[in-house]
This record gives sequence, C-alpha cells and structure tokens, in this order.
Amino acid sequence: MTERIFNFSAGPAVLPLEVLELAQSEMLSLGGIGMSVMEVSHRSKNFEPILNDAIEGIRELLNIPENYKILFLQGGASLQFSMIPLNFLKENETADYVVTGAWGKKAVKEAKRCGNANVFFSAAETNFKSVPTQDELAFSENARYVHYTSNETIEGVEFKYELDGGGLPVICDASSNILSKPLDIEKYALIYAGAQKNIGPSGVTLVIIRDDLLEQVPENQHSMLDYRLIAGNNSMLNTPNTWGIYIINLVCKHLKKLGGLGEMEKRNEEKAKILYDAIDASDGFYRGHAEKSARSLMNVTFRLPSEELEKQFAAQATAQKLDGLKGHRSVGGIRASIYNAFPREGVEKLVEFMQDFAQKNG
Ligand SMILES: Cc1ncc(COP(=O)(O)O)c(C=O)c1O
Repeated sequence: MTERIFNFSAGPAVLPLEVLELAQSEMLSLGGIGMSVMEVSHRSKNFEPILNDAIEGIRELLNIPENYKILFLQGGASLQFSMIPLNFLKENETADYVVTGAWGKKAVKEAKRCGNANVFFSAAETNFKSVPTQDELAFSENARYVHYTSNETIEGVEFKYELDGGGLPVICDASSNILSKPLDIEKYALIYAGAQKNIGPSGVTLVIIRDDLLEQVPENQHSMLDYRLIAGNNSMLNTPNTWGIYIINLVCKHLKKLGGLGEMEKRNEEKAKILYDAIDASDGFYRGHAEKSARSLMNVTFRLPSEELEKQFAAQATAQKLDGLKGHRSVGGIRASIYNAFPREGVEKLVEFMQDFAQKNG
C-alpha cells in the first residue's frame, strides 16, 4: 500500500482509510455494473439508491425527525451565508448573528446585503478566544432568526452547548463539528455544513431544514437558491455531486459501524485532551489560543514563543509526516485539526514531537 501520513489539514481533511479503500475497490466498476459512480446518470437506478441511503444515513446518525428535510447542495457552506438571508431575511427585517470567529463574520457580510444582520454578540474584542454563555444572549424580540457558528475552524473555539433561540428559529453553521457528537436537531430550524471535514469530500453542502421554513421561501426565488424547490426534487434539481454523495454514504455506514456519534464524541474528547494536556504541561512554551471553556475538540490552535519557531515547528513536523499544522494565513500560529477520521495514534505522535521540539528550543 502507498504510505499515508498524518494529515492535520482543516479541510479538505482526512477521510477514513476504510472508506477510501472501499471507494478504490469500486472505482472502475460500482457493484459490478462496469462503470464508476462518476459515470452513471444521477437519475438511474444505480445512483438514486446511493442518494437515498446517504440521506437515511445522515438521518439515522443525527436522529433527525421526519419534519426535517436533508439536502445535499453545492456552492459550499459559503453559499449558505447568502442563501439563508436570500430566503429568510427581507430588507426591513432583522436577524441576530452571534459572531465568534472569521466564518461568522463572513456570514454577516453576506446577510447585510439582504437586511439588517445585527451582530448581536461579537467576541472580536477578545480576539475570538471565547463563546458567550446562554445567559449573555437575550435576542431581539422581532428577529427573523438567530445565526451562530458552533465551531469556528480558524480560531478553534467551540460552543459546548446547543444555543437556545428563546423561541426564535436557530440557524447554525456546523461545518467543522457536525457528526463529531450527537445533536438535538429539534433545537434548530436549519443547520448546515460543508462536507469536507467530517462528512466527505468538498463540493457537497449538507443542509438540514425544518419543513415550516420551506413554506417561507419567497415565491419568486431563483430556482437554484430555492430550498423548497430543491427539497421537492430530492436535491436533484440539477446534476448533484454524485461522487461526493457516494463517499458521504460510505462515511455514514462507517460511522454507524464504529458505534455512532456517541462513540465519536468519546473518541474526540479523548484525542483533544491528549493534545490540550500537552499544551498545558509545556510551561508556557505552547500557548493555547482559545479560553479553556471554549476549546474546540476539532481544531486545536496554539502559539509558540515566536513566529520563527512556529515556522520551524510546522516545517520539521511535515518532515516527520505530521502535515497541515500551519495555522490559517489570517491568524498564524499552529492548528491541529483532528476530526472524526483523524487517528489517536497521530495525536500521540504529535505530542511526542511537541515535547521534543520544546526541549530543543525552549
Ligand atoms: C465553520 C466554517 N464555515 C464555513 C466554511 C466555508 O466553507 P466552504 O469552503 O465549503 O464554502 C468553512 C470552511 O472551512 C468553515 O470552517
């Protein structure tokens, strides 16, 4: 087998080896049909069961009630920043945005084009190290919806609770922590995620939307932006990303086999603890970015004593097959993304490397 490295990339990110091997074995002929999944019609009997299985797989893993539709869209999570307000926020209306990092900020920028995107809470002054407590959030009475980002991938801050909108519809960007733990879907009106971290390859966006929201889509909406029309066409209004959906189906089956999202949460907590413990035990050589109460289980962000040392750290780690550790270009530092498919063994190897590096450079 071709050797694989430990890939700490924030996304596209590591996929389960078992899924890649299965996809490899079916690459030339899917289930003996003599064609790959990328070569069959999306409306054929070869593909439609894959789409429906993937939908059912997501429904089962997240325990999604029947009054929610599960959609696979394109345009990334970024298109949702626009599509949500284009459907649910009119010019004279307000939506409350809780901003705990760079992605939340981008969501606000797009929503402002449609209506009053009110930055109800921003952690900007504290350099996006924390998330608010539920008590700090008393939303505008007349807001159409509340939007938040459950895990900010760049800063590595994560909500440890599911936000309560106090009766307002809650919309959540869960791109970088969906499927990492069980969720109470009934708390959300709409939840979305780009697939390329925990769900599958890039090019598919998962949208879980409650039926009553579909009724609120404006009548003259553009077809490709119309959740109701897309839901009515089972995500096949146009040609879907058939390859991406096929991989998502395999990932869902894999996660179920491992024991589901409760088991993933346990594993993710264990993996993250190994890394955060190493940061805390380093006598200040490594400094975690997030406040302890908001530390992400998916993206562990930290700094070293100087940018020069950070550069050396990332380069030397790559040479030891620990790749993708350089922080996002906007904030610098080091970021270890340790999604579901990232093995515990790789986290242990990184900790060994960190201890060695600190000893040599501290
Ligand atoms: C939390 C979050 N939201 C949105 C995005 C944007 O996703 P996409 O590149 O699929 O548009 C990302 C990408 O990393 C993300 O981490």
